[in-house]
Amino acid sequence: MTRHLLRDNDLSPAEQAAVLDLAAEFKVSPYDARPLAGPQSVAMIFDKPTLRTQVSFSAGIAELGGFPMLVEGRLAGIGVRESVEDVARVLGRQVAAIVWRTFHQADLDTMAAHAGVPVVNALTDEFHPCQLIADLLTVREHLGVLAGVRVAFVGDAACNMGSSWLLAGATAGMHVVMCAPPDHLPCPEIVTQATDIAARTGGSITTGSDPVAAVRGAAAVVTDTWVSMGKEEEAAARAAVLAPYALTAELLATAAPGAIALHCLPAYRGTEIDATVIDGPQSVVWDEAENRRHAQKAVLAFLLGAGEEERA
Ligand code: NVA
Repeated sequence: MTRHLLRDNDLSPAEQAAVLDLAAEFKVSPYDARPLAGPQSVAMIFDKPTLRTQVSFSAGIAELGGFPMLVEGRLAGIGVRESVEDVARVLGRQVAAIVWRTFHQADLDTMAAHAGVPVVNALTDEFHPCQLIADLLTVREHLGVLAGVRVAFVGDAACNMGSSWLLAGATAGMHVVMCAPPDHLPCPEIVTQATDIAARTGGSITTGSDPVAAVRGAAAVVTDTWVSMGKEEEAAARAAVLAPYALTAELLATAAPGAIALHCLPAYRGTEIDATVIDGPQSVVWDEAENRRHAQKAVLAFLLGAGEEERA
């Protein structure tokens, strides 16, 4: 069966740990593993803006010996000019894997069902699992472990990053605390799924709307933009309701001593995060951005390797 990374819980706890170990190896020796030698191509499709995802996948695919093939989403007209199913069948005959940033998770699922090659979620409205592998790698580098670590996500917890932190953090055995105004708390279905995972990994899930209570004792504090791609028209309303949930220096000071601050970027200083936090000594944001490359290489190598094992 072809493996995909569509949601964070597509990786079991053991598989997530293996991918993180591989990412750490790739970080030390970036040019040794060449599962895409040939070069085989990986299609990268972006239906939303991108900087980190495009450059980190491009560089990472090249480092794995492959060719990063940028497919222009607007020209391809996926789901408009031709169906997602037909695009999947065509791409699957040309490339070793497909990396897709798009809006609807259901379209990604359709791509995966028909491509015959691994499909990687490079961000949808619902999840951002590649970012989470990078974030977990970053937390592990700075704190040494993941299991048992308390992480607080403060801000728009209803976005893709909130859902991904719930599932990936639970898979890693972390104590995940989601803090947002009542209308921006994560989807209850994802909270339930994450709670079930945490029950097996020794982690836990908490949700609430008091930022100081959420951050107290946290070793890692995470935020994200309040205006995810596609939500631009809601910017003013979101700024008003989310203002008390900004990751300020004062809020970070209530976390555990030496706590680290994460943000997947792009960041809006003075809005969801203080400049003194993102540019300060507790910020690990630039490591996170670098780790996208190592993390995504590990995801691709893992998914391609899973296919190889099946064929062997
Ligand atoms: N929640 C953000 C993440 C950006 C990487 C968005 O979807 O725009």
